[in-house]
Amino acid sequence: MNVLVLGGGGREHALAWKLRQSPSVRGLFALPGNDGMAQIATLVPGNPAEADTVAAACRKHGIDLVVVGPEAPLAAGIVDALQLQKIPVFGPSRAAAQLEASKIFAKRFMERHGVPTAAFRVCDSAGEARQALSAFSYPVVLKADGLAAGKGVVLPNNREEALAAIEGFFSGALVGAAGRRIVIEEFLQGPEVSLLALCDGSRWFTLPPAQDHKRVFDNDQGPNTGGMGAYSVDALLTHEQLQAIESEVVQRTLRAMERDGTPFAGVLYCGLMMTTSGPKVLEYNVRFGDPETQAIMLRLEGDLAEMLASAAQGRINPGVLHISPEPSACVVLASEGYPGVFQSGIPIHGLSAVDGSNGAVVFHSGTTRLRPQGLAEAETAEWYTSGGRVLSVASRGVTLIDALQRCYAGAAKIQFKGAHYRRDIGARAARMNG
Ligand code: AMP
Ligand code: GLY
Repeated sequence: MNVLVLGGGGREHALAWKLRQSPSVRGLFALPGNDGMAQIATLVPGNPAEADTVAAACRKHGIDLVVVGPEAPLAAGIVDALQLQKIPVFGPSRAAAQLEASKIFAKRFMERHGVPTAAFRVCDSAGEARQALSAFSYPVVLKADGLAAGKGVVLPNNREEALAAIEGFFSGALVGAAGRRIVIEEFLQGPEVSLLALCDGSRWFTLPPAQDHKRVFDNDQGPNTGGMGAYSVDALLTHEQLQAIESEVVQRTLRAMERDGTPFAGVLYCGLMMTTSGPKVLEYNVRFGDPETQAIMLRLEGDLAEMLASAAQGRINPGVLHISPEPSACVVLASEGYPGVFQSGIPIHGLSAVDGSNGAVVFHSGTTRLRPQGLAEAETAEWYTSGGRVLSVASRGVTLIDALQRCYAGAAKIQFKGAHYRRDIGARAARMNG
């Protein structure tokens, strides 16, 4: 097969890395990809949300399977557009992508079909939201309806903070149009787990559970980021918990989407809170998680491309992929100042010392080979930073501790000015499970 990956972040690099190892893959392409991915795939310029651009690239390169990374193209209907042109694509239709694109859609769907989730109210105006607050205790959870690139959730600790957030949403100041309708919901407690299932419309293949670390600093301090690291270990869920999630969340969601006439194919990402009264869905995503994917891919053995192609054809073949019992982890190296203002074009050193050595792999998110203008000759490097999250180091290990040590040993070899990363990725789970 010739396979085209849409997107250009660390998640897409990790997908491309695994697809490259798939025996069924001949040519591997990425649109737009990134310079790190260029080491294993042919880059095709363009915007992955523009269906005409993507379809033209598919014809030009004889693409047999498109794998969609980010949510924006899915919400814009890239899958519907490619299917119309008979181009096989792994991902949900625009209608099915509503599970992520609209929190209101997702909450009403879960309520209608008995998928466990936090109690909630939908609010269409600031006045309605202010009134609805009295039905909740603090902390409370306020969520923008629309896609907000990880900035759409606020957790006010008191009424004053909640009123300020309501003002921020409905004025458009917080997340623009995405916040003109909101969901207020009950605050849930418990460990968070991401469970991703590869779906073909009615059946699914469960990927190993993972946990990401969203706050920028150790011990979950500081502002939220796009994800500072993740790990995957089976011990995140007991057998009973996994069974409960599969039957009450994954299966129930797939059956209901079928009944509603919008069958779900693609990655069903269940963001879960493991509460004392069972798993509850915090959010659905309709795509691979970033950075969970960078950890999860390390645990997959077999032919990912064949698996995704079979799912895209509506007859998932679970036999072509299996999951290693060995845990994995990934540590994200970020630019100074991220998630706030940061500089780009900073030389990166030591990358070649990591790639492949000691089982650790580097996935690029915000790097470039383009030498910044005006850089002194003496500062020239092979790689430069070009984003907030620059790259991640991922590894598998005999134990989670082993996987983490390999990641951190790799991270320590990579240097760029102002680089920072969390030192406690997976630390709690490692203390508990070794
Ligand atoms: P999201 O941007 O939807 O991934 O949500 C961001 C984070 O907000 C989640 O990862 C949770 O940590 C937190 N969160 C969302 N919903 C709730 C809830 N009902 N109770 C407690 N925390 C929540
Ligand atoms: N890691 C969370 C997400 O991809 O949305």
